[in-house]
Amino acid sequence: MRDGHRRPPTDKGISMNKTATLTIDGKSYELPVVIGTENEVGIDISQLRSMTGCITLDDSYANTGSCQSAVTFIDGEKGILRYRGYPIEELAEKSNFVEVAYLLIFGELPNTKQLAEFRSLLMEHEFIHEDLRNHFEGFPPSAHPMAILSAMMNAMGCYQPDLLQPAEDTHFVDAAARIMSKVRTIAAASYKKSIGYPMMYPRPDLPYVPNFLHMMFSKPNAPYEPSPEVVAALNLLLIMHADHEQNCSTSTVRMVGSSLANLYASVAAGICALWGRLHGGANQAVVQMLLGIQQSGEDLKSYVAKVKDKKSNIRLMGFGHRVYKNFDPRSRIIKGACDKVLAQLGIRDPLLDIAKQLEEIALSDPYFLERKLYPNVDFYSGIILRAIGIPVDMFPVMFAIGRMPGWIAHWREVHLSPNPRIYRPRQIYIGSPMRHYTPMEQRQ
Ligand code: SDX
Repeated sequence: MRDGHRRPPTDKGISMNKTATLTIDGKSYELPVVIGTENEVGIDISQLRSMTGCITLDDSYANTGSCQSAVTFIDGEKGILRYRGYPIEELAEKSNFVEVAYLLIFGELPNTKQLAEFRSLLMEHEFIHEDLRNHFEGFPPSAHPMAILSAMMNAMGCYQPDLLQPAEDTHFVDAAARIMSKVRTIAAASYKKSIGYPMMYPRPDLPYVPNFLHMMFSKPNAPYEPSPEVVAALNLLLIMHADHEQNCSTSTVRMVGSSLANLYASVAAGICALWGRLHGGANQAVVQMLLGIQQSGEDLKSYVAKVKDKKSNIRLMGFGHRVYKNFDPRSRIIKGACDKVLAQLGIRDPLLDIAKQLEEIALSDPYFLERKLYPNVDFYSGIILRAIGIPVDMFPVMFAIGRMPGWIAHWREVHLSPNPRIYRPRQIYIGSPMRHYTPMEQRQ
């Protein structure tokens, strides 16, 4: 295992002698410019308020960099995604999820010894405390598995109090391995709970993905042996979801972690942010959209017409992205895998045909092209999850399992940054001017 104390190169931003000039009320200010590894340009406004008395305003942070990070690079115009410099296409073809998790968390691809150590650490921590299993009794069978996952993530931290010391790095590797490993056990247990089946214990002889599938689909009287095709398909999906720089949930993990909250609490917050339909909940919403179209028999062109009509308040779920304005490379890889996996499993899923037709209609329609709306990671992922047998309300949970190494890597980057500071944005106040307390009898 790599040295837990190695500082990631987060202060690598190259501050050239380049500056940006800002003029306010006739007075000019020089602001430093930071150039990233891939020549991205950031205007450093960290001294703006003290220099000018002004702040910037950027609704939803669309133009604001919250940090300098060495974990993942995305070029939204060119459809580039790289984890620690490695293209997603190469990792999809040559790697596996545990190796990619190691790469994201520790910054380098593991050698044979390091990977073996990491795998044995994950195996060592695959059980959850027997008392934690009792927590499931407190959830109704209808509880959404993302609610269970976020609650159990925090509860898990209570069983490792010595790991809740974020100020130092000593416990990081242990906490990271526990979260990476136990998230499977909790996710599978929430599924078993929802169908009234007994929870399955992990098997020490199974690697990461087959062990999860075993806990999901084995029964005490009927072991489940996943086919190599299913294991490969789930490995691919988890790699596709492993990180994505400063997305909503990762920014949440960084924000919570910046207050020195422990890793469990920060990841639990990330799970909650991911759950939203505009984010990781979109994969569930896509399949529900496709099922709705299939069951209603609605003409696809008329459905797309409704999407374009703002009054309908209907979005083409799985389409559009804040960063990708050309194509999401993950969507291309997953779409390609859909045909292959369904053929290998001998499955024909009419939802795949509907999805492909919707994509074809949308990508020939000016509404989508003008707004640069293309399929994102969530548009096709549900097709593969369905083929594997994952229930639709667990799709966001699968996204969370995949995103765990990214969240863990970013949490650590915050904690090991050269000058860790709490995230605390400013605001422009537009509320009532000062006024005085009104006694009850004088109120309207
Ligand atoms: C993920 O950030 C990440 O990296 C996230 C993620 C990751 O790996 O972490 O990639 C994972 O969350 C992918 C996104 C999953 N969400 C969805 O598929 C939900 C549907 N998509 C959208 O709601 C939307 O596209 C977002 C949320 C993804 C992006 O929102 P933005 O950047 O704020 O864009 P916007 O809402 O301002 O839309 C711009 C225009 C608007 O039209 P106009 O007002 O200009 O006329 O595009 C329209 C929007 O109405 N639009 C859509 C649309 N998405 C945007 N119209 C129809 N269908 C859509 N899906």
